[in-house]
Amino acid sequence: MSNEVAANNSPATIQPVEIQETLDELYNKYRLLQIGQLATYIPELAKVNPELFSICIITVDGQCFKVGDFQQLFTIQSISKVFVYGLALAEHGREQVLAKVGVEPTGDAFNAIILDEKSKRPYNPMVNAGAIAITSLIKGNEPTERLSRMLSMFEGYIGHETTVDMLTFMSERTTGHRNRAMAHLMLNFGMIDEKIDEALDLYFQQCSLAINCLDLAVMAATLSNQGRNPLTHVQAVPSCYIRDILSVIYTCGMYNFAGEWAYKVGLPAKSGVSGGLLIVVPGQMGIGIFSPLLDERGNSVRGVKVSEELSQRFGLHLFDCKKRDVG
Ligand code: DON
Repeated sequence: MSNEVAANNSPATIQPVEIQETLDELYNKYRLLQIGQLATYIPELAKVNPELFSICIITVDGQCFKVGDFQQLFTIQSISKVFVYGLALAEHGREQVLAKVGVEPTGDAFNAIILDEKSKRPYNPMVNAGAIAITSLIKGNEPTERLSRMLSMFEGYIGHETTVDMLTFMSERTTGHRNRAMAHLMLNFGMIDEKIDEALDLYFQQCSLAINCLDLAVMAATLSNQGRNPLTHVQAVPSCYIRDILSVIYTCGMYNFAGEWAYKVGLPAKSGVSGGLLIVVPGQMGIGIFSPLLDERGNSVRGVKVSEELSQRFGLHLFDCKKRDVG
């Protein structure tokens, strides 16, 4: 194919005005969609306003697009698993982390009490069992030191200090019996060390981190930008681990919807039961969506719809032959 033909066939770059117009349009379209359920198994999450909705995009060169309730705080929940996995990789290296937690999608629910038959490892770091095992690896002499390391790590991605929402933390801590059962099972097989109550507390704290939708987009954009926050230019995680993080969330980030997600949207992503959705467009932008009504797999209903449309309209699917770049 000659260069001329290739140039004629190449789709136009995505212009900033088109991004903001698309966000406004999708916001107005899906604001009317009010189906799904709030997560009720964590009592504190059942109190959230189900109508909240926001979509934010940050590009790797720091352009910012936002619509809706983007300043509304919510707890990060399972999306935290992505970043704590990065911290564990940075602290221990790929081989040691892989010895404790696999990278295989399960096709099961996120809270399934299941370990790999042969290795006794949790299947991957994005299901609860794997995430608890990963959290148990975080270094520090005292629980406060480990929490402080974790908060500093999150600050690198977000660009400002964050806090743990105490009501959600206590709510999870008092009702998280399945997570306790998983921790005991892993202790039984020697996959995590004996301080399981400390590991569980840290896991509940990471899930209860309060962020807003704009923070979520900056975090996604930092992953898109090889681990460097595009607004503060802080390197939040060594760039050599971005490959690991993105492969795992591409295959395991949307739980038992991961295959359909990869097929339709085609981007690394992670959801959480508070209604957050983080999407990484490698080398281009980070997308954050927040809408608390969930489908039966625990993914945000509006979040999935908006992502499908954004991917299709902007040609973002990783394997799309008509991929477009941000202008
Ligand atoms: O452990 C739990 O159940 C919650 N703290 C996190 C779950 C979560 O967000 C799963 N995501 N869809």
